[in-house]
Amino acid sequence: MKIAVLPGDGIGPEVTREALRVLDALDLGIEREEALVGGAAYHATGHPLPPATLALAEASDGVLFGAVGDPACDALERHLRPEQAILGLRKALTLFANLRPAKVFAGLESHSALRPEVAGAIDLLIVRELNGDVYFGEKGFRTTASGEREGWDMMSYNESEVRRIAHAGFRAAQGRSKRLCSVDKANVLETSQLWRDVVIEVAREYPDVALEHMYVDNAAMQLVKSPGQFDVVVTGNLFGDILSDLASMCVGSIGLLASASLGARQTAHGTFGLYEPIHGSAPDIAGKGLANPMATILSAAMLLRHSLGLADAADRIEAAVARTLADGVLGRDLGGSAGTTEIGDAVLARL
Ligand code: NAD
Ligand code: IPM
Ligand code: MN
Repeated sequence: MKIAVLPGDGIGPEVTREALRVLDALDLGIEREEALVGGAAYHATGHPLPPATLALAEASDGVLFGAVGDPACDALERHLRPEQAILGLRKALTLFANLRPAKVFAGLESHSALRPEVAGAIDLLIVRELNGDVYFGEKGFRTTASGEREGWDMMSYNESEVRRIAHAGFRAAQGRSKRLCSVDKANVLETSQLWRDVVIEVAREYPDVALEHMYVDNAAMQLVKSPGQFDVVVTGNLFGDILSDLASMCVGSIGLLASASLGARQTAHGTFGLYEPIHGSAPDIAGKGLANPMATILSAAMLLRHSLGLADAADRIEAAVARTLADGVLGRDLGGSAGTTEIGDAVLARL
């Protein structure tokens, strides 16, 4: 078993370090190799996703990814910006299904941005499409004849892209409470009408799953009003990005939400995937030892479960994180005072 470790920028290396300490403590015999990605890779090599980094990811059973993003790179041409590294990995490795679970941990109900009795019901999974949508359409910028600046980004989905993520959504629903909510904007967008039509077609293959459709603006409202109504939510790349950050604050902090990005490729022990917290490089707190590493630790647990076939070890990590939170070891993001390594120590002590 071999994993690629791509810590990246900002708090990426800080939170990745804690996840690696947890993996080390379990002594699972996993080989690992680290590589540069994002702004760190740009500064060292002139490219945010060097060919060697992509090759390492491809040759591994799974990738543990920290975060990318560096304010010093914000003025670079788009293809050189750190964010292109994560987009490039998702696309090049055909990781089209992004699983973002959001569950309120026992004892953390009062730390949600919602009322405790509303927050306590949250246990949902966002299945976000990751290879299409406005993220990967043609984009451009020009100055018009009248001297006005204009920018555009083409939003598109084809039916095979929608079909494969719909299957991922239905299969996820079959493994949970057999309810699937497909979120779109079919009242306005052609991409969303196609999305809805294809999801309805795929639904015929899953008669045991109850399918519901919801417009994204309503879904954002419903996630705050009564998040307990959702189980599996399947949605496009952009809507899934926005709704998952929203869901993180319903849970309590973006520092708690992990993710798995999966495709079709099988490894010897499971499905190849990339695992990362849903948050970014958090330049505002980088280098201060304040980041909550739990989202990355939980992402490492997802890696063990999905790519390495080590479900027991994954369960142990998740239980240790839950215990740490229940014991009141909270970072600044949750109103506590524990720093990054202190949280890592507390999780290790409970493994
Ligand atoms: P962000 O997620 O980095 O930070 C948003 C807010 O949440 C900040 O106040 C930050 O301090 C806080 N936060 C995030 N993670 C935290 C943690 N683990 N513990 C405690 N607090 C945490 O989003 P942003 O500020 O919009 O973006 C910063 C950079 O990260 C940008 O360059 C952006 O493009 C990039 N980004 C990268 C990824 C990724 O690598 N997958 C994801 C999102 C954003
Ligand atoms: C995420 C991030 C990325 C996205 C950015 C950094 C490209 O926000 O992983 O959620 O939009 O997918
Ligand atoms: Mn995001």
